[in-house]
Amino acid sequence: MSKKISYLTQIIQFSRNFIKMLKNPAGERNKQPILEILQQYVDVNKESRLLEISSGCGLHSSFLSSYFPMTSFQPSECDVNLFKSIKAYTKDCRNVKEPILIDISKDHESWDSAYEGQLLKSSTNIFEYMLNINMIHITPFECTEGLFKNSSKLLKSKGLLFTYGPYSMNNVLTPESNVLFDKSLRSKDPSWGIRDICDLKLLAEKNSMDLLKIHDLPSNNKLLVWIKN
Ligand SMILES: C[S@@+](CC[C@H](N)C(=O)[O-])C[C@H]1O[C@@H](n2cnc3c(N)ncnc32)[C@H](O)[C@@H]1O
Repeated sequence: MSKKISYLTQIIQFSRNFIKMLKNPAGERNKQPILEILQQYVDVNKESRLLEISSGCGLHSSFLSSYFPMTSFQPSECDVNLFKSIKAYTKDCRNVKEPILIDISKDHESWDSAYEGQLLKSSTNIFEYMLNINMIHITPFECTEGLFKNSSKLLKSKGLLFTYGPYSMNNVLTPESNVLFDKSLRSKDPSWGIRDICDLKLLAEKNSMDLLKIHDLPSNNKLLVWIKN
């Protein structure tokens, strides 16, 4: 009987957790291609720290962390309503910390969040890796500016920033589906839109960062690897 009750309790807990996990069909499609690129850069034999900016529902930290057991993942969001979902996705992940509040458009010196007991506003050079998936085109450009500015402060020397999403190159956006996507983004909010890699390179250089590599990924997306010099 007590075995039955404990089994039922487990089912109830699982269902409660499952309800909190927000669905993310795009994330389900891109998580494997993103993993395969990260595996080329993240040293699995060395302890390291990764800060994810705009973690959304928490799917990526949850999925990716299991492939990098020596890397401590720190998810973050500017929307605290997503914390429940991030916690639900990552609750069984040994190397994922509780989500923290980060508005990437703001300078890290104004953040009140702490990392490993230390306020991020007074921290620099602490992460080997930073990760940002599908945010740059769905936010005002101040978020992208903040992403590079804050990455250059928070990454260690030679640390890497991975950004994933659709991009144009030399003001050429292909294919037609991305042109239509860009139009629909800008019609929803004129401050959104697919960014050009050349503009991002200039922004990165202003912040002591360089573009290391462009990886073409499925569905006309790219994963860009940036290095702090
Ligand atoms: C399209 S979602 C992508 C979420 C997740 N990375 C993924 O791929 O599933 C864009 C995310 O950017 C976050 N975001 C918007 N403005 C932000 C800001 N100023 N700072 C940090 N994150 C922000 C939103 O809350 C949202 O979760």
